[in-house]
Amino acid sequence: MKLGIGIVGSGSIAKIHASCILEQSNAYLCGILTRNGKRAKEFASTYKTEVFTDSSAFFAQPNLNAVCVCNESGLHGESSIRALSHGKHVLCEKPLETTLSKIDSLIQTLHKSKLKLGVVFQNRMNPAYREFKDFIQSGKLGKLLLVNTQINWYRDEDYYKSNPWRGTLELDGGAALMNQGIHTLDLLLDLMGEVSTVGALVATKTRPIEGEDLAVAHFEFQNGALGTLSAGTSLYPGFPESISVYGSKGNMVFEAGQIHSCSLPEWRPKEKPQANQANNSSKLNSIALHQSILNNFIEAIDQDKQPLVSALEARKSVALIQAIYQASKTKQIIKIETL
Ligand SMILES: NC(=O)c1ccc[n+]([C@@H]2O[C@H](COP(=O)([O-])OP(=O)(O)OC[C@H]3O[C@@H](n4cnc5c(N)ncnc54)[C@H](O)[C@@H]3O)[C@@H](O)[C@H]2O)c1
Repeated sequence: MKLGIGIVGSGSIAKIHASCILEQSNAYLCGILTRNGKRAKEFASTYKTEVFTDSSAFFAQPNLNAVCVCNESGLHGESSIRALSHGKHVLCEKPLETTLSKIDSLIQTLHKSKLKLGVVFQNRMNPAYREFKDFIQSGKLGKLLLVNTQINWYRDEDYYKSNPWRGTLELDGGAALMNQGIHTLDLLLDLMGEVSTVGALVATKTRPIEGEDLAVAHFEFQNGALGTLSAGTSLYPGFPESISVYGSKGNMVFEAGQIHSCSLPEWRPKEKPQANQANNSSKLNSIALHQSILNNFIEAIDQDKQPLVSALEARKSVALIQAIYQASKTKQIIKIETL
């Protein structure tokens, strides 16, 4: 039986979800819920699907099995809980929510159901990232000692002006870390395991937003390794994001979605990395990686298993970012509790 998947929200990422669903042979697009009448017409004609402005009618569709939550980050919890309460599986865009209390309410609702919830951290599906992770976890670098993470990006004034929820505490939950940097922080946690303590400074230097456009932090991981982070959306013209891992026998660098270098002869590049892929948001939004996450979600429903990025897994990057905010505010080292 084909799975009916609907979408909440009709913004930029909703289009990627709609295109991905239309490509599926085992699922079909089962309506879009929008608040924007003009977009309703555009979506109906482009994606040949019913567009709803009444949420009760959208969720009441009997053939709706799952919902992609594609609205503003600070509304993800509310929309996901609504979908679960109607018996629908959820594929939620990152971040799962902007605060831990909202995430924990959502997880409570999820655990009372037998439904699946997956979170879109599509870079986990990047084959180059998987190769990087396999190499790091093979132990060939020796004892893991240090990780330097850089997410030194740039977003111009129009980026924030054109979409007023961006950079707000209520709907974005922050800015450079909670919206952009979270992708790389999710990979960092997947690679290194959880962080136990955090010290940090965040600042808003160049944009009239409530959230941060600059951040530095230092971490201790539960595995004993140390880490540093520099991040921002104020760093003109934007630089490729990178994770550099140093072990007792050598180092390996993942940059702009590719393995950039490795000091050990055991690893050789398959193809030459492309130079200067600064601020590669097009890669982050690539349809292919979203498609892989959607495949994984549908497979999880079909085979009754956990999606690759579960709710508990997606909670970790928000917990880390909230600890960074708290460390900066209190000028204290913050401990992160493991669930
Ligand atoms: N995975 C990625 O790489 C990636 C990329 C971009 C955005 N995102 C995430 O996707 C989410 C949306 O981002 P966007 O850039 O598409 O924003 P957007 O502003 O373009 O779209 C959000 C839309 O949702 C609508 N909406 C809000 N609440 C609604 C509701 N209850 N019912 C129906 N529609 C509702 C809004 O009217 C708005 O049009 C954010 O959480 C963002 O972090 C993820």
